[in-house]
Parts: sequence; structure tokens; C-alpha cells
Amino acid sequence: MNNNTFVHKYIRPLISKKDTVVDMTAGNGNDTLFLARLAKKVHAFDISETAIKRSKEKTKDFDNIEFHLTSHGNVDRYVRKDEACLFLFNLGYLPGSDEDTCTEKNETLKAFEKAYALLKDKGYLIVTFYLRQKGGYEEYYLLDDYIKKNRFQILETYSQQKMDSPITYIIYKDQSKTEL
Ligand SMILES: C[S@@+](CC[C@H](N)C(=O)[O-])C[C@H]1O[C@@H](n2cnc3c(N)ncnc32)[C@H](O)[C@@H]1O
Repeated sequence: MNNNTFVHKYIRPLISKKDTVVDMTAGNGNDTLFLARLAKKVHAFDISETAIKRSKEKTKDFDNIEFHLTSHGNVDRYVRKDEACLFLFNLGYLPGSDEDTCTEKNETLKAFEKAYALLKDKGYLIVTFYLRQKGGYEEYYLLDDYIKKNRFQILETYSQQKMDSPITYIIYKDQSKTEL
């Protein structure tokens, strides 16, 4: 099972039609579409016009998505604290595009910090790292270090255990157990 299949399988029972969720990297719109079917509302971010266009096209039958053509580092301008119960990061670059669209480690860290602060208590933050892509290892090490230093609760780690294969973290926010 690839990481996207794992993530979708994991998320399906967690979201209902009462929930607002956030796709931090809309890309080709596969995750946005998946989330729009389950949730009441989806915020979807991407810095690439092509990505937003493809995602809008893929989700044209849904009216519960707010698209934001801006960096996920600006997430706090569009999503209120305690509004969303899940933030999804599917890192790397836009498939079928050049590597200029690749996520950048410092911006990802900023977005990740903001997402965790905005996330509802008992909510989920899910992140998939693509080690093989440009800057992939550096991004993974930076975020992994931050997650572990701040003792975030990692419920599951998923990888196909092949050399350099993507890694997914399922993080759970339990305010009774963390200071952040
Ligand atoms: C692996 S793709 C996402 C795949 C997507 N979730 C899907 O289901 O098709 C990563 C996306 O992150 C976007 N991206 C890169 N830097 C970003 C940033 N700072 N803010 C938001 N999106 C960013 C890229 O443009 C690319 O579309």
C-alpha cells in the first residue's frame, strides 16, 4: 500500500459532515477531492496556479471547498483557531511539473507550527515526506527534529520500508499532554 492509500484509509473514519479540514498542498486535487467528499468544508492551499486550476477542475462538483492561491505559511490568515480538526500535508512537488513547485523546509516548518496551533484539541495533523525529492531529506530532518523536541504525540509512522521511500506521520493533538 502506498502512503496516499494509507493516509486515506486512516482518515476516512475520522471525519464527518460536521467537520472542517485543511489540505495544505492541493497539488492535483486528489486529496482535496477525497476530503471534500467526507467533510463539511475544506480549505485547500497551493502556491502553484496550475495546481489550483487542476484541483478546481477535479472537484468541480463540490461547493464546500475554499481555495487559497498562497503559501500554506499564510494559513492563519484564512483558517481560524479551533476551526479545523485535521490538517493534511502531502509534501514535495506538483507531479507532472518542474521542481520549482517543491515545498521548502523553512516554509513547511512555519506552516506546520501554525497548523498545530490552529488545530482543534483531539485533532490530527498528517504529514507525508518525500525523501527522494529535491531537499526531501533536509525537510524531513528539520520537521522530525521539531516534532520530537516538542514531544508531539505520533500515533503512527508509515513507510513501505524500501530505500528512500516516503514517510508518513500521524500526529494527534492532546492538549492535556503537551504545552504547545
Ligand atoms: C505532492 S504535491 C501535493 C499532492 C496533492 N495533495 C494531490 O492530492 O494531488 C505538493 C504540492 O505542494 C505545493 N506547494 C509547494 N510549496 C507550497 C507552499 N509553500 N504552500 C502551499 N503549497 C505548496 C506544490 O505546488 C505541489 O502542488
